Amino acid sequence: MPWKRRPFSGRDLSAALNIADLREVARRSVPGFAFEYVEGGAEDEATLGRNREVFATLRFLPPTLIDTEGRSLATELLGAPCSAPLAIAPTGLNGMLHPDGDIALARAAAAAGIPYTLSTVSTTLLEDVARQAGGRLWMQLYVMRNRAIAENIMHRAAASGYEALLFTSDANVFGSREWDKRNYRSPGHPRLRAAIDTLRHPRWLTQVLLRRGIPRFRNIETFLPPGAASAVGGSTIIPQMFAPTITWDDIAWIRDHWPRKLLIKGVLSVADARRAAQLGCDGVVLTNHGGRQLDYCVAPVEMLPEIAAEVGGRMTVLIDSGFRRGTDVAKALALGADAVMIGRATLYGLAAAGEPGVRRAIEMFTVELDRVLGQLGCRSVSDLGPHLLRASGPPGGG
Ligand SMILES: Cc1cc2nc3c(=O)[nH]c(=O)nc-3n(C[C@H](O)[C@H](O)[C@H](O)COP(=O)(O)O)c2cc1C
Repeated sequence: MPWKRRPFSGRDLSAALNIADLREVARRSVPGFAFEYVEGGAEDEATLGRNREVFATLRFLPPTLIDTEGRSLATELLGAPCSAPLAIAPTGLNGMLHPDGDIALARAAAAAGIPYTLSTVSTTLLEDVARQAGGRLWMQLYVMRNRAIAENIMHRAAASGYEALLFTSDANVFGSREWDKRNYRSPGHPRLRAAIDTLRHPRWLTQVLLRRGIPRFRNIETFLPPGAASAVGGSTIIPQMFAPTITWDDIAWIRDHWPRKLLIKGVLSVADARRAAQLGCDGVVLTNHGGRQLDYCVAPVEMLPEIAAEVGGRMTVLIDSGFRRGTDVAKALALGADAVMIGRATLYGLAAAGEPGVRRAIEMFTVELDRVLGQLGCRSVSDLGPHLLRASGPPGGG
């Protein structure tokens, strides 16, 4: 019988070798509708696919016979030390995946010495994350039509010691995640098959739903209309509250309310990066929101060289969307990013096993990145550069 390779199909966290394995544990640990909420992209999921495909077009060109003993991933981000060029990206509704939600993610980030970004639409109060997790905390800002919500978030985050604000600029009009929508017969009402599937996940049912109740949008709860604070009701109402009127002119308004570091999350063009720099922002996050917003959008990695050439060194350049491997991170750093933000990969860890699962996900990135540094003859992340990469077309050209 021919030898057949078998992909990972277990539930055992310690046997998971990489983020894809961890994703498999996550998929089995939570009901399908919760996994789909994390996993899905907008419309045809062309952006989602592109985010992964782009890494295959970049190949390493390693120099050889270089001593790399004593390698280090340590770096500096926004003027403070960071043990690796990584940060956890903001994701809403984390309490849907595990009862410890944001606290588990933030604690794992703190333990690994990297920043955690809390979403405006988190299921944990920003004050509770600051009190219970510590570490370097960044706050993500969604601006809704009622500007008092954003002002409230900014003042509270400043009072709680959050060091940076990541203003998300690519969600003023909300993307249509069709696979996610298919789990509901009407907004807020799960289909029967989704409800039955929930019963097939008794651990999730007990820990998430019965012990804590349906997760709520704690940070902005007091501003929401009746029925909109719960994850089920709010998921459809909140996107309609986002302000399509927000423009570059509003950066001055944000600056009036936010005294610390400010980054724009949602920049993809050189012109916009230049504008952010001109307005005195401290950094940009190149992102397409993990393929959840505009479909048929470029992958941020495609735009990175041009943007880094324009604003790199003057402001912090972060990037996310599609990062699942240490090699992906090394490619972005080589092309000029200061650090990479991790979205779904750490959520897989959270869904699989709470804080230990998130720690494991971060460890996968750091172990892989350290190895690729060594294989590329680098001792530190600052040794990475475009000279280590080749854009590769199909074999034989064409
Ligand atoms: C489940 C989920 C929820 C998200 N929620 C937010 C959010 O509240 N605010 C935000 O700015 N971005 C949000 N994002 C986008 C992430 O911050 C990040 O840009 C994206 O996940 C990166 O792509 P990746 O998941 O492929 O790593 C979310 C992404 C996911 C997967």
